[in-house]
Amino acid sequence: MMEYRKWKHMRPQIRCVDHTPVHQQAVYVYQAPQRIWHWVHAISFLVLAVSGYLIANPLPSVGGEASEHFIMGNIRLTHFIAAYVFAISFLLRIYWACVGNFYAREIFVLPVWRRDWWRGLLYEIRFYLFLEKDIHKELGHNPLAQAALFVFNTLGSLFMIVTGFALYSQGLGEGSWADVLFGWVIPLIGDAEATYNWHHLGMWVMTTFVIVHIYMAIRGDIVSRQSSVSTLLSGWRMFKDDLPYEP
Ligand code: HEM
Ligand code: HEM
Repeated sequence: MMEYRKWKHMRPQIRCVDHTPVHQQAVYVYQAPQRIWHWVHAISFLVLAVSGYLIANPLPSVGGEASEHFIMGNIRLTHFIAAYVFAISFLLRIYWACVGNFYAREIFVLPVWRRDWWRGLLYEIRFYLFLEKDIHKELGHNPLAQAALFVFNTLGSLFMIVTGFALYSQGLGEGSWADVLFGWVIPLIGDAEATYNWHHLGMWVMTTFVIVHIYMAIRGDIVSRQSSVSTLLSGWRMFKDDLPYEP
């Protein structure tokens, strides 16, 4: 597939007011491993957030023998299974960023050395402040989305994995693989209590990002005249007007 450079296209969009049929242009941007990862990542995150919330705010106790229900034990187990899925799929995603196409690297590398990227970022901020009227066509993520994905998702996920496995190492014990790899995090943060609190805070920061993210993704589909959610399902970015995309 031809690699398109971004940020060059700064053309305003046609507004279709007369319902005349228009041609659509489609460009294949997100390869299958990236798309599959997104949904694995999203589902494992939601399971982690709900089970984590319940670990921090346990359900009222139920009567009878503990061995008959073991509710909190199952909630913790769910958290740990989802944690492995989240962490391993994240490692695989890093591998895909190395071998995949241009768009596979966007959430890992912000092109801060490029002036047109900063211009694009400023434009998006102005657009969301209602200071600009025209929506830019984008093949991958727009610069504002890219920056938010990098800070809140890429760095956020890393933070949750590192603090999570540090807490997990306490259960596995001294000298375990988790202790060797992540044990240093707890003294670095302070103590286990502080690590719990930062891990917990990370959940709320990422959850806030996810709420805005889902809103923006669906809103993008409706108002931006280019596909958004379906692009992450099929891989194809559809432009809903007949202006050709010019890299
Ligand atoms: C984005 C992903 C994650 C979210 C949203 C999340 C959320 C949470 C929350 C809210 C808590 C409760 C903290 C408290 O008690 O105040 C928690 C506990 C915990 N999390 Fe995570 N977590 C995530 C990833 C991970 C990962 C990757 C691991 C690695 C194994 C992990 C391991 C743990 C452990 C060991 C606990 C303490 C369990 C206990 O004391 O019973 N978490 N998590
Ligand atoms: C129903 C829920 C969700 C929907 C509809 C959704 C939709 C989308 C869409 C449409 C994009 C691509 C934006 C574009 O370029 O047009 C995207 C990208 C992304 N989303 Fe979601 N998302 C959801 C949940 C989540 C969750 C829960 C997370 C993380 C915790 C997440 C993390 C990401 C990341 C990291 C990307 C960038 C993907 C990449 O470049 O590899 N999403 N999402």
